[in-house]
Amino acid sequence: MTKITVLYGTETGNSELLAMDICKAGENSGLVCEHLGMEIIDSSDFSDIENLLIVCSTWGDGEQPDNAIDLFDHVEGLDEGELQNMKFSVLALGDTAFDLFCEAGKEWDRVLEEKGATRVYDRVDCDVDYEDDAEEWIENVIAIFA
Ligand SMILES: Cc1cc2nc3c(=O)[nH]c(=O)nc-3n(C[C@H](O)[C@H](O)[C@H](O)COP(=O)(O)O)c2cc1C
Repeated sequence: MTKITVLYGTETGNSELLAMDICKAGENSGLVCEHLGMEIIDSSDFSDIENLLIVCSTWGDGEQPDNAIDLFDHVEGLDEGELQNMKFSVLALGDTAFDLFCEAGKEWDRVLEEKGATRVYDRVDCDVDYEDDAEEWIENVIAIFA
């Protein structure tokens, strides 16, 4: 049975709610799904994830949310090719009013590829009205793993 791990980076909970929606959709399609805040996962377990979905907002001036910083730094420090058994896709939340729109999600997308993981579905960058774009991403990503 295929297992999906959804990691969310959030300040005010939007990404967490979406992570829950992703898991609901995954379970409805017969997947085993867990969703975890990025501060919860033991960073030494990160490289063992096979199917990873990232939902991450951007804060400050193009920065990672607080709960994502340590994990992001850990992944930046991995060796090239270390994530070659991982498949991933990123859903980025942000606001086009900011110069660095969805920068944190873009950084996750970049670093995962850099470390050897395989992008199975292109990143989607969501503005403040994210519901429709997020729903489409969820539907398409889940269909890939189901
Ligand atoms: C203080 C503050 C700073 C933000 N900075 C950015 C930013 O630099 N780039 C961006 O695209 N969005 C930025 N946002 C928008 C958030 O990423 C967006 O509201 C997102 O939906 C929040 O999701 P969350 O609840 O999961 O944290 C900012 C929002 C606030 C309140």
